[in-house]
Amino acid sequence: MYRAWLAGTGASLPEKVLTNHDLEGMVDTSDEWIVQRTGIRERRIVQEGEVTSDLAIAASRQALEAAGIQPEDLGAVIVGTVTPDKVCPSAAVFVQNALGAVNACAFDLNAACTGFVYSIAVGSSFIQTGLCEHVLVIGAEALSRFVNYSDRNSCILFGDGAGAAVLSRQKDGEDSHIIDSQLFADGGARDLIQIPAGGAALPASPETVEARQHCLSMNGREVFKFATKAMVDLINTSLERNGFKYEDLDIIVPHQVNSRIIDTALKKVDVPKEKIFINLDKYGNTSAASVPIALREAVEEGRIQKGNLVLFVAFGAGMTWGYNLLRW
Ligand code: UT7
Repeated sequence: MYRAWLAGTGASLPEKVLTNHDLEGMVDTSDEWIVQRTGIRERRIVQEGEVTSDLAIAASRQALEAAGIQPEDLGAVIVGTVTPDKVCPSAAVFVQNALGAVNACAFDLNAACTGFVYSIAVGSSFIQTGLCEHVLVIGAEALSRFVNYSDRNSCILFGDGAGAAVLSRQKDGEDSHIIDSQLFADGGARDLIQIPAGGAALPASPETVEARQHCLSMNGREVFKFATKAMVDLINTSLERNGFKYEDLDIIVPHQVNSRIIDTALKKVDVPKEKIFINLDKYGNTSAASVPIALREAVEEGRIQKGNLVLFVAFGAGMTWGYNLLRW
């Protein structure tokens, strides 16, 4: 078995900003309510003609440059997304083609907000087994195309963006590596967050469009409870399974879901808030893109240093949840 390590990161955000004040003009809400209940102040959204793969490609170019890897070296391109450009083909083939990753297989991975964490686990297993030497892993979303901007319960939360990471086979003498990943799912809770129409169960029709069933719908309170418990369980499981204590952790990069969910979870574990990287005030919840966008910012700000013990935790529709634990 080989070891995989994370060789480079990248991120891309649309230029267009949608502030809480902008939303005040669209639904019955206020900047004060949104900041107090979620911590979000603004989010980025795609403009007309801009698509998920555009963001994914820009983030990927940065990650490849940071890793010093050429597109031809890639054995796989994996895009964690629930908002691909088209239902078919995958967003990943658009990325693979634009980059010129001629030797890579390419596929999307739908695990909602856990998409990037799932993709890291899958990509690193390709490296561990020797199937690939380098894998490009992306989280990319254009959620604004699926948000119902008349539903104040959900439209305040979501934003668009992409983040990427290059996974590579560990070099001789290096200690940086992905220590462990664990992935979980509970399809019994599949109705908590969903896009009801547009799939085989409810194909597009004038009625589904009229009823806005192609938009995301969500049971916010139940998701809140689920996410809080998942975050606590993931932190505890990742440490217990690998023989670490709370104080060994240098930084947690969580799914940027809601600052109250993160604060509530932190009361149940012995990890100080300074060890949690949060940027949701600027971008909202970008689903699969949120962990890699936050990761890129944490790296750029020098919050992650060589030798650090780093934990990614995420949870979302499905329900799905999971972690990656890394020695940076
Ligand atoms: O990646 C996972 C994606 N999903 C999530 O992250 C959702 C997780 N859940 C949440 O973040 C929170 O549940 C929300 C932010 C969605 C809602 O916050 P909450 O504190 O759970 O509010 P609530 O649903 O308990 O509603 C409290 C009140 C209600 O009014 P009444 O019934 O008390 O009169 C809502 O109608 O707040 C009202 N409300 C709003 N008021 C102003 C709900 N949304 C809004 C809004 N502006 N945007």
